Amino acid sequence: MAFYIGVDIGTSGTKSLIMDERGTILAESSAEYPVLMPKPLWTEQDPEQWWLAVKKTIKAVVKASKLKKGDIKAIGLSGQMHGSVFLNKKGNVIRPALLWNDQRTVAECEEITRLAGGRESLIKMVANPALTGFTAPKLLWLRNHEPKNYAALTHLLLPKDDVRRRLTGEFATDASDASGMLLLDVKNRTWSKELLSKLEIDPSILAKVYESEQVTGTLLPDVAAELGLSPECKVVGGAGDCAAGAVGNGIVKQGILTASLGTSGVMFCHSDEPQYDAQGRLHTFCHAVHGKWHMMGVTLSAAGSLQWFVNQICKELSAKRGADPFAVINEEAAAVSAGSEGLFFLPYLAGERTPHADPMARGCFIGLTNKHGRGHMARSVMEGVAYSLRESLAILSQLQVPVKEIRVSGGGAKSPLWKQILADVFGQKACTINAEQGPAYGVALLAAVGDGAFKNIEEACKATIQVVDRVPPTKASQKKYDAAFPVYQQLYTSLKKSFTDIGSL
Ligand code: XUL
Repeated sequence: MAFYIGVDIGTSGTKSLIMDERGTILAESSAEYPVLMPKPLWTEQDPEQWWLAVKKTIKAVVKASKLKKGDIKAIGLSGQMHGSVFLNKKGNVIRPALLWNDQRTVAECEEITRLAGGRESLIKMVANPALTGFTAPKLLWLRNHEPKNYAALTHLLLPKDDVRRRLTGEFATDASDASGMLLLDVKNRTWSKELLSKLEIDPSILAKVYESEQVTGTLLPDVAAELGLSPECKVVGGAGDCAAGAVGNGIVKQGILTASLGTSGVMFCHSDEPQYDAQGRLHTFCHAVHGKWHMMGVTLSAAGSLQWFVNQICKELSAKRGADPFAVINEEAAAVSAGSEGLFFLPYLAGERTPHADPMARGCFIGLTNKHGRGHMARSVMEGVAYSLRESLAILSQLQVPVKEIRVSGGGAKSPLWKQILADVFGQKACTINAEQGPAYGVALLAAVGDGAFKNIEEACKATIQVVDRVPPTKASQKKYDAAFPVYQQLYTSLKKSFTDIGSL
């Protein structure tokens, strides 16, 4: 029997798992690290932290599985998208990486749009408009603000691809993750020579693009020895965490959508052809399914909003020994009725992507009265995130994308209350599958495909993934949320100017 490792280098931590060739998980391990916030709306991480977490969790799953090193045939890598790992010619990291939810690049997005010959022409080249979270604006920010660092730059890698470099010595990426750099000709799945030349970026700083199941290299002998693996162990292309999470939920054909509640929230659907939202509210990226694409909408702070609420507002809960602050908050929120008695939360703690693409947007509680307490606030956070995801769903339905089934996943979906809220706000069943590991599972399946255990990823998903739970919407709550949704939508429009004014204070 052959075995495969899946690694997901997330924002709050890294998760690794090991599974057999039938998709049964033998062991899992995770390690956390902090997000650095040097200024409001700036986020950074030290790539060294990812590497330490990857090594620690791989060693832990290898040890727990008690397998012989030769049994573990391949590794799949997934990670937070868009982050910028800047390397010099010695292979050292030049400065901390800027992350997907960093908002410092407003001016660079304008610069890219101008140099590309306007928004329409940019979308023609790379399928997407310039958004602050994407990687190309981060590179231009380095050029504009840290010229010495820019002069030392020889490679620009995405988070999981820096881990790949340390594992294998190869500079490689995959088409799904590369799509989020805003430098990929998404339709043709290759770097856009045209845009690179307009932006005066040297193509040699970029990694070679592979499909997600293709083998990009094998482990360096010293790394293999340290991890307890064979130097013949392969590393496949893998995928950005959104596409990897979608594969891990079986989203490899049209008609099924995944709503994931990680630090960010993602509404993701597969498409056989590249499909575009003319207004650029949804992203069009390559999928981790060979030669296919996907569209997605992103809420920047989803489970991240509840995490903020617990960490910053309910500090005394986290300090209590033995108590799970999320369990307490869930219980209090469940005691509040749908709609939180008129309290709304706008989840724009890190600005917002879909549908507003507004880096200046800020988080808000609106509608507070003397009656409202912590339970109302917690519930309104969950509801605000669900409304935000419904905005992506509404765009997909405007574009006539068929959505026959919604699969919910990610840390937030472990809460039965939040799952019910999603079903009620979407007005559709919230389904869950047999494996809850999302991206790490998705890339372990891709590793299995790359090693030949399955013919392709569609076959791998068919053999391993089943829906095990379907939560239907409750009529009364659905009605309440249908009435509240337009109010939620109006709040952003009413506050947009104030957000900009706050930013300029
Ligand atoms: C996707 C995005 C986030 C990160 C989170 O475009 O920015 O979902 O990938 O890890």
